[in-house]
Amino acid sequence: MTKKELLDKNWLFHYGELERQPLKTTKKAVSLGGPTAPLANENGSRLPISAGGNHFLKLIAQGNAEQGLLNLAGTDLTDKLSDNWEKIDLPHDWNRKVPYVNQPEKLMSGSKPDAVGYYRKTFKLSASELNKTKTILHFDGVMRMADVWFNGVYLGHNNSGYNSFSFDITEMARYGEEGDNVILVRADTTTGAEGWWYEGAGIYRSVWLEHRPLVSIVSDDCYIYTKSLDNGNAILGIELSVKNDTDKSQTIAPTVSLDGKKVAQFNEIEISSYQKYKFEKTIEISNPKLWTPENPYCYNANFEIKTDKIQKKFGIHTFDYTTDGFFLNGQSYQLHGICEHQDFVGVGTAMNQDIVNYKVKVMKDMGVNAWRSTHHFASEELLNACDRLGIILINENRLLESSPWRVNDLRQIVLRDRMHPSIGFWSISNEELIGNTPLGSRIAQKLTRTIKKYDFEHLIIGAELLTPEGIIDENYVKNLDVLGVNYPEAGVMGSGAKLIHKKYPKLPMMSTENASYFSTRGIYKDNEEKKQCNNFGSYFSMVLPGVRKPGDPGVGGTAHPETVMSYLKDNPYMGGVFLWTGFDYYGEPSPFNWPAISSQFGIADLCGFPKDYYYYYQAHWTKKPMIHVMPSWNKDQLNLDKQGQVEIRAFSNAEKVELFVNDHSYGKKDLVDCTANWTIPYESGELKVVGYRKDEIVAQDSRFSNSKTKQVLPQKVYEGETTTLVALKAIDENGKFVENANETVNLDVSEGKIIGNGNGNPIDQNMDNEKVSLFNGLALVIVSKNSDLHTHLN
Ligand code: GAL
Repeated sequence: MTKKELLDKNWLFHYGELERQPLKTTKKAVSLGGPTAPLANENGSRLPISAGGNHFLKLIAQGNAEQGLLNLAGTDLTDKLSDNWEKIDLPHDWNRKVPYVNQPEKLMSGSKPDAVGYYRKTFKLSASELNKTKTILHFDGVMRMADVWFNGVYLGHNNSGYNSFSFDITEMARYGEEGDNVILVRADTTTGAEGWWYEGAGIYRSVWLEHRPLVSIVSDDCYIYTKSLDNGNAILGIELSVKNDTDKSQTIAPTVSLDGKKVAQFNEIEISSYQKYKFEKTIEISNPKLWTPENPYCYNANFEIKTDKIQKKFGIHTFDYTTDGFFLNGQSYQLHGICEHQDFVGVGTAMNQDIVNYKVKVMKDMGVNAWRSTHHFASEELLNACDRLGIILINENRLLESSPWRVNDLRQIVLRDRMHPSIGFWSISNEELIGNTPLGSRIAQKLTRTIKKYDFEHLIIGAELLTPEGIIDENYVKNLDVLGVNYPEAGVMGSGAKLIHKKYPKLPMMSTENASYFSTRGIYKDNEEKKQCNNFGSYFSMVLPGVRKPGDPGVGGTAHPETVMSYLKDNPYMGGVFLWTGFDYYGEPSPFNWPAISSQFGIADLCGFPKDYYYYYQAHWTKKPMIHVMPSWNKDQLNLDKQGQVEIRAFSNAEKVELFVNDHSYGKKDLVDCTANWTIPYESGELKVVGYRKDEIVAQDSRFSNSKTKQVLPQKVYEGETTTLVALKAIDENGKFVENANETVNLDVSEGKIIGNGNGNPIDQNMDNEKVSLFNGLALVIVSKNSDLHTHLN
């Protein structure tokens, strides 16, 4: 049976170029030596040399075989590693520990220098595997240009940081007593970025070995998809292929089961030696359990032959898109989406499954049902989380380019991921300058063809730049099932989207990026020096310097949340929204420059702590009664007017809301757009809102004026398989949350380890795992599971 073995533990990492850069070609086989092969203290010889080979090497170097090897093949005879190799586990983003640099050209990508890094690992393979299995080495993602060596051989190269790649190492591996196997990876970010955001650096996703039987099922070719859903019956297409890597022909009769029930039995087929055969069938399932965000039912699909079994998750569903928007399983369905890169506080892009699960859960709790993986392919971890939690994914191709390697990356990702229940759309690109041009059209056609060749189920979109005049290229748009447009609601786009809709009433259109509204968690005053944006709406602009007037271009972001939601209400054919972004991310610190190192577009901050407008969306998108009041209730955090009055806003999905200050009622109000506003005199104490449905209290929320921090309360916000996320919360002597606490907290563990930390402050440049400052009362610490975290207030 195919087995997967994770190789994430016990790697060595070297920051910077090696004294001697490993060669890629050599004159004699398997002879590169140096760190690419076993060293003196490791098992096995650098290069297994036959008696004849040894004799020959001695002949050409006056009896010194080593010298002969050097003379003949230029073999690196180094027998130990230089210093500065650090022990690490994967996933690993080396930039998290590299000091920030104040360089304008690095600002967008997170103010980290570009560099080269090496990773090295040894592992053993059992002698029993020899001639019994195929061994494949998989990399889920390396940022960026990667070169890989294995046991003295240069395996090859990978260009993009956003695809996965593999090498068949069966023959080159060493088994049992033959010695240790050595992997060496060189990752290089100096040859150009792929994105204008923080991309991380190094082996930031998992590495694993696949042990495949010699007669095996090809995982990427295992495919079940929904052809149609009619009268409660699903018609499914099934494909799989079997590869015979033996010297004899093999008789094969695969079966496929869903949740343990056999749904397909293929007839026996004779597969010749070293050949592959593809099996195909259409089946019908009555009364299937459907996959929806509300009930994301995943079938366990098993593809089986006598010697092998591949398991995948499968969802039964249909996706359609018309000029009336999106349809899931034949029913109109509004997409409540967010856009998201792939980083997190303290770990950068090295996000394991637990951290991804946490991020998806924070958004799911807000009512999100869709996610656009911007502007790159989704990781396996994200796909898994979305499958399970019920999120419809737009999986985005990095660039609108048709170079053979980009097309091959796309092909591989489509084959790898097309069966994930969460995928609803493939996006061919984002805001390409060549979109809507004849050149863009030719490339788009190639990419679309590549996707459609292997994926029969999902819709193809492009997330395109708008013009106020609504200009598109008809040939370009023909490549798409749905024309995605970014920021249709924004003032700077004028009536662009509406004009397109008017001119092409039959063209399905979707809103693929919205809002870009910036705010700093817990902040109610703009502050240029501290790089902070007011949650009521900032007067900083994306496009103009300094504090601006209301209505100036780019003030507060591309569009305020209220504008986004009212645009959707007025233009339901746009299908939904994809808010930029779910979380703050490293890099792109608009509207600021250094020392800001993270964006502020997030609805939650870098740690996943909700900002106030999280609750605006939650009020719109969830039914369970909720209410939230802003601002905080400490005078120093507030913008009082000349009369000492302050603005209050509540978000709720109740019918009416009542405001109290220290139990004095300001009366009940109807909610409009899930919002109620007041301006009242400031009085310290308790600010409270109460939500009513049919005159019954259904929800309430309070914020308190506080005294000084007395203690820091650690609260687990997520406990995963290997990792725990702990929020640190400042508490005063009355047990109330201290919303303006900014003290430093020292951290240590007697068991386990601290993986990273952070606080959501856009200028926080701390990289010390043993220390974190609170930011507006909160910080987050990421620890290995069952760690025993101690906090000490400074
Ligand atoms: C969009 C772009 C995003 C991000 C955003 C910031 O145009 O697609 O990647 O840069 O602007 O507002």
